[in-house]
Amino acid sequence: MCGIVGYIGTENAVDIIISSLKKLEYRGYDSAGVTIFNGNLETYKTVGKISELEKIIPAGFTGHIGIGHTRWATHGKPETRNAHPHLSSNIAVVHNGIIENYMHLKEKLMQQGYEFSSDTDTEVIAHLLHKTMKNEKTYSLLDAVRHIMTEIEGSYAIAVLCTDEPDHIVLARKDSPLVIGLGNNGYFAASDVTAFLRYTKNAVYVNDKELVLISPTGVEFYNNDGQRIEKKVDIIEWNEEAAEKAGYEHFMLKEIHEQPISIQDTYAGKISELEGRVILEELKMDEDQLRNLQRVTIIACGTSWNAGCVGKYLFENLAGIHTDVETASEFRYGDPILCGQVLTLAITQSGETADTLAAIRSSRSYGCKAVAITNVVGSTITRETDSVLFTHAGPEIGVAATKTFTAQLIMLYLMAIHIGTVRGRLTPETSRDILVGIKQLPGQVQKILNNKDAIKKCAEHYAKVQDYFFIGRHLNYPVSLEGALKLKEISYIHAEGYAAGELKHGPLALISSATPVVAIATKGHTYDKVLSNIKEVKARSAEVIAVANQSDTEITKYVDMVLRIPDCHELLSPVLSSVVLQLLAYYTALARDCSIDKPRNLAKSVTVE
Ligand code: M6R
Repeated sequence: MCGIVGYIGTENAVDIIISSLKKLEYRGYDSAGVTIFNGNLETYKTVGKISELEKIIPAGFTGHIGIGHTRWATHGKPETRNAHPHLSSNIAVVHNGIIENYMHLKEKLMQQGYEFSSDTDTEVIAHLLHKTMKNEKTYSLLDAVRHIMTEIEGSYAIAVLCTDEPDHIVLARKDSPLVIGLGNNGYFAASDVTAFLRYTKNAVYVNDKELVLISPTGVEFYNNDGQRIEKKVDIIEWNEEAAEKAGYEHFMLKEIHEQPISIQDTYAGKISELEGRVILEELKMDEDQLRNLQRVTIIACGTSWNAGCVGKYLFENLAGIHTDVETASEFRYGDPILCGQVLTLAITQSGETADTLAAIRSSRSYGCKAVAITNVVGSTITRETDSVLFTHAGPEIGVAATKTFTAQLIMLYLMAIHIGTVRGRLTPETSRDILVGIKQLPGQVQKILNNKDAIKKCAEHYAKVQDYFFIGRHLNYPVSLEGALKLKEISYIHAEGYAAGELKHGPLALISSATPVVAIATKGHTYDKVLSNIKEVKARSAEVIAVANQSDTEITKYVDMVLRIPDCHELLSPVLSSVVLQLLAYYTALARDCSIDKPRNLAKSVTVE
């Protein structure tokens, strides 16, 4: 996830910005840059580590005002020209977030003669500001930023320098974090407090649609209407390590809590609710190609494979297209029957999983069109496929995949709705229903997070068991697989996910009072069937924890505990149930004192076979 920093003060801005950027390294980044004002705007940027950036800044170079950035690529590859700051004549901008309507703005700016030197969404901000300052001669930089906030859509925390106002940094935010530090020797701005904690513990959190004007003599805060506002100063008690995790005990917990934003960032700019359709130009497949598809073959490993299994139900239900899901390590040594009318879809958060890469290469040798869903711009899979759909979950540091899983699900919904619409399977009304539901997911996930204590209690109650079973039907079958995978990988409890109807074909022999069963029993066409399976395991003395909808009062009659998700469209419940199961795994591992972010024997990116 990108990080922004800014500094004005009596110290050397170069040193402070570099040291602040280093503190944001944990967020993940692929390139970095700074702009320092020392008469001119001097900009240095590069791909790679901040140590590389340090190498290209001339020794002895100083200044007292500057902005800096670590970039996690979202639009455009990790290349120096895409690194921030982005400039338009006498204006420099750093940005964290996603400008959803940047293509439209870019086209307009290009018609007006603006030349773009990057593939980023951010560069439109620099040119828009330049245009505004040129056209509206009476505007201050603050006015100009406020003005362009009415034009840009999406999420942003921006910091802007302009040579017309050489002793100001102007900042603004919407849906991306921004905090101001008040020090004795200057003022700081950053995406999180970690960046400046070593200089000051006095911080002011900026809210959505607020603006900030920093000068050598002080900091002023403004609302969206341009009126000055007073803000509360917080004294940060965290040490730097705690601050990297935003106060959470583990990266996994932080990443679970980031899901309202990562879900939103993944669908941002891709939903036209009015028309009941999805905009998925990145798929790079025209309507004829989509209509002529015979089959989709999904290739993935681990959690991404579980997402793929949810995808199978979505593609078959919403797009009416036969879909297989293949384990990459098996597929690569198999004898697949493929042809040019099969779409192969690689799902891999890292984009570097060796088996997935090998399998997708093999599929292409049959002439299949290959598409990737990944979270990492510039990863190997992006060079091995015909087109790439990026989830915008931001970097995931905990080994257990959480926010990248739900982001993959979101992308699969969008893809299925898009293909279903083109193939005439879905009416705009049906799509609109689901799209409206998708837009409600961030708020609904937040509700689950707000009520996490019930999940924690349940996890602690069963933390000492040796075996767990997870059962579900239809879409909830892969949800049960993912629940079991999450639990086993971080808590080291043996856990099995099963299609609920399969129990009687073998595993029922293992069910006893010592094996709690998590039943994903959300409302839908298999609900009654799952109730029967719950009765089956209860009859064998198992304790049952149900994941059920908020309004389901009936379920309490049959189970020992209920973990709730908000009521939602049947097809969307996997996103919400998965968040519950992530928290169940997390709190179980916490109660067992396990190494949560780095579980034994596992790696975040499996680049070997
Ligand atoms: O990077 P990928 O999505 O290709 O990784 C695949 C699996 O290694 C990964 O999903 C793994 O199962 C998760 N870390 C489990 O939480």
